[in-house]
Amino acid sequence: MFLNDNLKVFSGSSNIGLATAVCDYLGVPLGGSEISRFPDGEKSVRIEDDVRGRDCYVVQSTCNPGDENLVELLIYLDCLRRASARRITAVVPYFGYARQDRKDEGRVPITAKLVANLITTAGADRVLTIDLHAHQLQGFFDIPVDHLMGELVLSKYFHDKKISNMTVVAPDVGSIKMAAKYASRLGGELAIIFKRRLSGSEVRAQEIIGEVEGKNILMCDDIIATGGTICSATELLKQRGALKIYVGATHGVFAGDAPEKLSQAKIDEIVVTDTIPLNSQSKKIAKLKVLSVSNMLGEAIKRIHRDQSVSSLFIDH
Ligand code: R5P
Repeated sequence: MFLNDNLKVFSGSSNIGLATAVCDYLGVPLGGSEISRFPDGEKSVRIEDDVRGRDCYVVQSTCNPGDENLVELLIYLDCLRRASARRITAVVPYFGYARQDRKDEGRVPITAKLVANLITTAGADRVLTIDLHAHQLQGFFDIPVDHLMGELVLSKYFHDKKISNMTVVAPDVGSIKMAAKYASRLGGELAIIFKRRLSGSEVRAQEIIGEVEGKNILMCDDIIATGGTICSATELLKQRGALKIYVGATHGVFAGDAPEKLSQAKIDEIVVTDTIPLNSQSKKIAKLKVLSVSNMLGEAIKRIHRDQSVSSLFIDH
C-alpha cells in the first residue's frame, strides 16, 4: 500500500506483533536489527539496515518489564542517531512510568518527566504515543508529541455492538473527558464515579453521579492495572441496578491478581487494545477481547512521514 525506502520502522522486543502489523499496514518490511546481550547481561542493539538520512520509527511499549524495555528503547534511539538517521520517532504505544507525574507528597520522583527527558536525550526527534495517563504529559517533552486515542478503535467496536439504553461511565474523575468523548460518539447518558484510592492496589468506588439504574453500562478508562478501579466500580454499579456492564480500556496491564479479579467481577465484556501484549494469566480472562491499534498507528506514521495532519484522524469516523 505504501512502500517508500525512505521510511524505516524498527521494533524493540516488547511488542513485535504490533510492530509487524504496523509494517503490514504501511506495506514496508520491518527494519532489520539484532538485539543481544553481553555476557554480563547488558543489552546491545545493532541496526542491520542502512538508515543514513532516513525517516526512522522505533516501536516499543515501556510495559513490563518496564525498566528493561525502556533501556532497550533508549539504546535503539542512540543507535539510530549515531547511524545518521535523518529523523527518529519513538513510537511508544504504552508509555510506562506515566502515573508518577507529580509530587503529591515529599521526597518522591516525577518519573514521567524523567522518562520524557531520557527519550529526548537518547535521540528522539518526535514521540508518537497512545493515551498518555494524563494529556498534559505531552508538555513534559520539548519535542513534538503526536498523541493518539484508543477511543478511536474502541468506540468503533462498541458502536457496531449497538448497545441499547446505554450510560457511559467514567470510573473516576480523571476519566471524565474520555467518557464524554465516547458518549458524544456513541450517544447515551454520562455518569461519573467518585473513587478513593486506599493503596496501590486497593480502590473504593464511593458514589455515582448520573443515572445507571436499569441501564446498560459502557465503562471506559485509559488503563486497567490491578483491576481495582474497574472491579470496585462494577460492584457499585450493580448495587445501583445497572444491567449489562461493558468495559473499554486502551492499555491492558493486568498486574498481579487482576486477571482473577476481573474474571470474577460481574462484567459482561472487557475490551482492550494491543498496546501491551497479553501476559499468560490475562489470556485466561474469558470475557476479554483485544482490538489492534496497528492501523491507527500505521496511518499516523504515514501522515507524519508525509507531513500531513495527524489530529484530523480523530475528526469523525
Ligand atoms: C486512574 O487514574 C486511571 O485512569 C486508572 O483508573 C487506574 O490507573 C487503573 O488502575 P487499577 O486497575 O490498578 O485500579
